[in-house]
Amino acid sequence: QEEIEELSICKDAQIMIEKAEKDGVVTVWDRFKAQQPQCTFCKQGLSCRNCSMGPCRILPGKERSLGVCGANADTIVARNFGRGVAAGAAAHSDHGRDLLETLDAVANSDTQSYEIRDVEKLIRIANELGIKTEGKETLQIAKELADLLLEEFGIKKGNIGFTMRAPEVRRKLWDSLNINPRGIDREVVEMMHRTHMGVDQDPVSLLLHAARVSLSDGWGGSMIATELSDILFGTPKPVESKVNLGVLKKDEVNILVHGHSPIVSEAVLTAVRDKNNIEMAKAAGANGINLAGLCCTGNELLMRQGIPMAGNHLMTELAIATGAVELVIVDYQCIMPGLIPAMNCYHTKMITTSPKAKFPGAEHIEFNVRNARTQAQKLVEMAIELYKKRDKNRVLIPVEPVPMMSGFSNEAILQALGGSLAPLLDAIKSGKIRGVAGLVGCNNPRRKHDYCHVTLTKELIKNDILVLGTGCSAVAMGKAGLYMPEAASLAGPGLSSVCKALNIPPALHVGSCVDNSRILHLCGLVAKELGVDISDLPVAGSAPEWYSEKAISIGLYFVASGVYTVLGVTPNITGSKLVTDLALDGLTNVVGACFAVDTDPHKMAELMINHINKKRKKLNLPV
Ligand code: SF4
Ligand code: FE2
Repeated sequence: QEEIEELSICKDAQIMIEKAEKDGVVTVWDRFKAQQPQCTFCKQGLSCRNCSMGPCRILPGKERSLGVCGANADTIVARNFGRGVAAGAAAHSDHGRDLLETLDAVANSDTQSYEIRDVEKLIRIANELGIKTEGKETLQIAKELADLLLEEFGIKKGNIGFTMRAPEVRRKLWDSLNINPRGIDREVVEMMHRTHMGVDQDPVSLLLHAARVSLSDGWGGSMIATELSDILFGTPKPVESKVNLGVLKKDEVNILVHGHSPIVSEAVLTAVRDKNNIEMAKAAGANGINLAGLCCTGNELLMRQGIPMAGNHLMTELAIATGAVELVIVDYQCIMPGLIPAMNCYHTKMITTSPKAKFPGAEHIEFNVRNARTQAQKLVEMAIELYKKRDKNRVLIPVEPVPMMSGFSNEAILQALGGSLAPLLDAIKSGKIRGVAGLVGCNNPRRKHDYCHVTLTKELIKNDILVLGTGCSAVAMGKAGLYMPEAASLAGPGLSSVCKALNIPPALHVGSCVDNSRILHLCGLVAKELGVDISDLPVAGSAPEWYSEKAISIGLYFVASGVYTVLGVTPNITGSKLVTDLALDGLTNVVGACFAVDTDPHKMAELMINHINKKRKKLNLPV
């Protein structure tokens, strides 16, 4: 029992880890244990298999200090890091492309499964990117916007359009460093080129390009994903919902959506809400159909539609272990192949839907823009059939769900503030809100599940720092009750008074991982309003329990945009002193921000608070 409490702070996780063990489900923690000790070369970034003269492992200062080609530790570490950033940026941006292709299909009347739900935002974004909309039909505007954004992915003249959301000083800095991103695909491809054997050997040059790749994600692919998701599925507004494994229903057909894109999950939601399907579920002996989310596709549905959230990354196998899940419908990213043997212990089925993400052992029912409605209908019928096979004796729903608020898009935040940023800026200037922190990223079995996310958030709000959360971090905060206005009682006096006046929580759910672009955009708006650079703002970021390559890209685009970012898990760069020193310090002289690493959330909070105070002092604001 004590051992289980060391793995996660969540009651639902603790109970389910025990049940999983009894039911013979192998979890991520079991496999993590089986992997020990992990390779120290790889951990430091000192292994390379970029060519077939290798693989090479480097022992700096020893005989084996160079790879077969002559690459040293600095080059190898920088190359490995760069490839990680490229993979992460590619994942976010390719997700953005799927939204773009959906918009394109809607614009060309090529789909009956999707529509434009937020015409006002479509017009606003089109205008922002220089498209004249007056007197034009909605679908014509959508067509022009889709055409313009499709170009952002390839090679074009100039830079990615949304970078104009950054203040001019920041863009000038990017230009002077030659890191203002050109096409989205172009930067990723160029990183693959540079890291091929015999191309870029200079660690600084590699890292600067890594920054450019990450910027093409944050201000490009991710931002496109967010904005187009809002246009297609509605811009989020404050909404109340529920979170943790308690959202699963004992007497209903339970369908979980897992992955990242809203394209499949929104279609599933439409089918789940169909009255005929609910009748069909009742005829099968269930009281209804219950849809809940996992990870970021869950965040997408929660933000826009108030659909309950079952859990984050490390909860996915445990959700299956409840024995109450009929169907897990996945799209892509962060879906552990370990879910397949887990589901085989029950009546549960996992369905893959993307041609890009197939899992041996799962059934593949492919979705595209044209067939989404009919495929979703098929899946709901499949779930109802599976419900009949559920073994009620093996069902355990471990806890009661916790209420949470969601839906804080920038548009919603502005509206809560009465239409302008002025009240937020006034609160920051007076010190009622001392600063803003973005808490983002994943879970990682190296860290006690959700402990860092929750402890760090509590520490920050206690110090009057408003916390914006996305991704798995957001789920952790929701489960801990920090996403309800009542949590203002845990905040410092200033933040608490602002929350009470606006009836908002001291930590706000601003979306999925691609929605970190909302935080970038907000930083850009505030910096422009104050006439300063983003690096001058009293803001800080953190990915306390990150694991994925996408998180590396996120961390780097925050830093390259001027946001000091504290990581709770050390990236695989410690094999190079040059790269490590640059990441933890040197970058400040280049882009005005750097990374810090600490594993103790109290120390992480201290680092972020000190940074925010330093920035306040510089802006002549009371500390
Ligand atoms: Fe070894 Fe160089 Fe080939 Fe990497 S690129 S595997 S360091 S020879
Ligand atoms: Fe995510």
